[in-house]
Amino acid sequence: MNQQEIEQAAKLLKQGRLVAFPTETVYGLGADARSEKALAELYRVKGRPTDHPVIVHLATPDWIPRFALADQRALALAQRFWPGPLTMILKRKPDVPDAVTGSQDTVGLRMPSHPVALRLLNAFGNGLAAPSANRFGKVSPTTAEHVRLDLGHDVAMVLDGGPCDVGVESTIVDLTTDTVKILRPGAITATQLREVLSEVEHGQSKTRAPGTLESHYAPATQSELVAPEHLQTRLHQLKGQRVAVWSATKPEGAEFWLEAEKEATDYARTLYSNLRQLDAGDYDFILIEEPPAGEQWTAATDRLKRATA
Ligand code: TXA
Ligand code: MG
Repeated sequence: MNQQEIEQAAKLLKQGRLVAFPTETVYGLGADARSEKALAELYRVKGRPTDHPVIVHLATPDWIPRFALADQRALALAQRFWPGPLTMILKRKPDVPDAVTGSQDTVGLRMPSHPVALRLLNAFGNGLAAPSANRFGKVSPTTAEHVRLDLGHDVAMVLDGGPCDVGVESTIVDLTTDTVKILRPGAITATQLREVLSEVEHGQSKTRAPGTLESHYAPATQSELVAPEHLQTRLHQLKGQRVAVWSATKPEGAEFWLEAEKEATDYARTLYSNLRQLDAGDYDFILIEEPPAGEQWTAATDRLKRATA
């Protein structure tokens, strides 16, 4: 990606336009986090209810004080995991637009590691509000092509940084309470967080968080998540329908089969593109085999549960 494209994107953002850009997790739909006009456009294009907060992306932990009050825990986490797939929910500064925070007294911050995202943030010079670059409730994008298919002309520019490495959205931790809570599982696990902080729990957000709604990331085709031991029976029950099966090994009688990745990181990286591929096929039904147990699979399993809810 040449610097001219980055400068052009930063210029559009300064004019209040929307620019989609790659991060290591998924593509983000970027808007000036200080501009009411840009944020209004962001919500319109995304089709997201305006009381749902968005994450602000930063080029450096030094920008945290522009948006939030950082305590020792936040600084320690930033030191260890930034740039990377970790979002921290912190007490906001009073001048952060309500459109960013959903009128709450907190704000979500993250410093992404994708070089294109960092170059864009540095060229822009301030925080970018960026939800995943898909319409509300739909499958998240992990390539520039996914973004163009979803958002088309509603976005001023799409920066193409190739397919995303991580493939699922950042881990979200709430640092506004004594015990740190994981609001959304991602590539950074509870075990990793506990290397820095003593107390970390899996929690539920008191606040509205679309990625934590029961149904989200959903394909249009009817989809079901099944335990490996029930896969064969379920396929048999659906006889007569065009059923696509996504599993580690091919079940007997499966006409359309997509092989599931065996490594958790590979599985996560290809999760959304596989869901899109299955959804684009002319199937009546998608049967998805539950991933194995284990902490490294938590994020993928979480997204699949919501995709099939
Ligand atoms: O990996 C990611 O986090 C990607 C990339 C683009 O950075 N972004 C992303 O954004 O997933 P989005 O908007 O699709 O999901 C952000 C989640 C939502 O569930 C939102 O409600 C939650 O973060 N969130 C943001 N600010 C919050 C706040 N102040 N309190 C609670 N939840 C918050
Ligand atoms: Mg999203």
